Amino acid sequence: MKVSMIGTGYVGLVTGACLAEMGNDVLCLDVDENKIRILESGGIPIHEPGLDAVVARNVKAGRLRFTSDIARSVAHGTLQFIAVGTPPDEDGSADLQYVLAAARNIGRLMTDYKVVVDKSTVPVGTADKVRAVLAEELGKRGNPVDFAVVSNPEFLKEGAAVDDFMRPDRIVIGADDERAILLMRALYAPFQRNHERLITMDVRSAELTKYAANAMLATRISFMNELALLAERMGADIERVRLGIGSDPRIGTHFLYAGAGYGGSCFPKDVKALIHTAAGEGQQLEVLGAVERANDAQKRVLGQKVLRRFGDDLAGKHFALWGLAFKPNTDDMREATSRVVIDDLLSRGATVCAYDPVAITEAKRIFGDRPGLSYADTPLAAADGADALLVVTEWMEFRSPDFTELKAKLRQPVILDGRNIFDPEFVRAFGFDYEGIGRAP
Ligand code: NAD
Ligand code: UGA
Repeated sequence: MKVSMIGTGYVGLVTGACLAEMGNDVLCLDVDENKIRILESGGIPIHEPGLDAVVARNVKAGRLRFTSDIARSVAHGTLQFIAVGTPPDEDGSADLQYVLAAARNIGRLMTDYKVVVDKSTVPVGTADKVRAVLAEELGKRGNPVDFAVVSNPEFLKEGAAVDDFMRPDRIVIGADDERAILLMRALYAPFQRNHERLITMDVRSAELTKYAANAMLATRISFMNELALLAERMGADIERVRLGIGSDPRIGTHFLYAGAGYGGSCFPKDVKALIHTAAGEGQQLEVLGAVERANDAQKRVLGQKVLRRFGDDLAGKHFALWGLAFKPNTDDMREATSRVVIDDLLSRGATVCAYDPVAITEAKRIFGDRPGLSYADTPLAAADGADALLVVTEWMEFRSPDFTELKAKLRQPVILDGRNIFDPEFVRAFGFDYEGIGRAP
């Protein structure tokens, strides 16, 4: 099938490459010419495990191409995927300017039947807006070309994006046009793998499904984080509580990890957008409001642990920070907890040396030449002379350090583990003063 992918970011590039892998003829469009240049010269603008191989294979096979030529992209695909960003506006609502600009381009230039697929995360009612823009543009040209608008939200996770896309739990298609549903069914048939994974529904329900999924996951995390704070006060261990409740299949084991708060380009923005959508309908989402407040507070928990130990004035204190990305296996630092922790420490006069396997370039872009902030080439080098080690992201390579060497590097043997990656008893046996999240001292 001929597919145009509008927006070649995390979602667009992964979706485009994986659809090409299944034999489709995919043309990826981006307005960012630098991104297109990198892709055309064989590079990958993001860090995503396994993506480079899928892209390279399909480029070589001639099934995956890149362009910044809008007319070429509109002419190419019967399926026009919109996978552009929907960042939060100042009031928390999703900014639809990129989605509607993409729709306008399609309407302006299309000459035959198109299925326009909303892949971006968009509020309920967006498909209607996309439809209106397409109709308006076609109307201007007096050109009655047939089209359909479909909602096909994406559930992949960064760091596991290729695998998530190739082996989806479910594929949600919101559509009211039979011809479009048939095309989407055919497109996703290779991903079904002997199970019916395609769930079709009306467009509005599909749009809401995406927000409901992210909001539910964010709620679980904030709930566990609040319980973790209570566990600390009451001398309980949240990791044991997690095992105790997760074994109930009604609760389940996934996404129950307490930590230093959730970040990323999606949970924070989607929780805000859903709250805003509901408010626009006159409904206050009490639970989600609390989820957001609890998460904002949770990102400060590591900093508060530092202040409790070292006092409010951190002048002369030096800290090692492991993990800058908002989660492992990505270089994405959007809404990352590390940003809050670093700001908190630097603003109190401390200095920080950070290490991350892939996000240091991104951190340098974000922080610039921030006085007091330096970077190390290895986790142990970051620990050199530090008054405490703060673990902010749970990269695999942090899990089994040489504790003897680590202790020798630190000025004070203090570990503040924001992701509970270490076994407290094991670490304490090396003489560390260890504090996790929600684990009684
Ligand atoms: P991104 O910022 O990485 O990429 C968006 C791309 O769209 C950019 O490269 C930008 O230059 C391009 N673009 C903007 N306007 C354009 C236009 N008119 N024509 C062509 N290209 C245009 O964003 P992302 O992380 O891929 O997210 C895209 C959407 O998918 C968002 O709505 C997001 O919420 C949703 N989503 C993201 C993830 C994720 O893990 N990142 C997962 C599921 C859903
Ligand atoms: C999330 C969802 O998991 C995807 O299904 C969704 O498609 C995506 O948002 C999106 O809409 O963009 P992502 O943000 O890439 O994916 O990463 P997650 O693995 O969900 O982690 C998000 C944050 O939650 C991270 O900061 C992580 O550290 C935190 N988290 C996750 C916890 O604190 N505890 C957990 O148990 C799980």
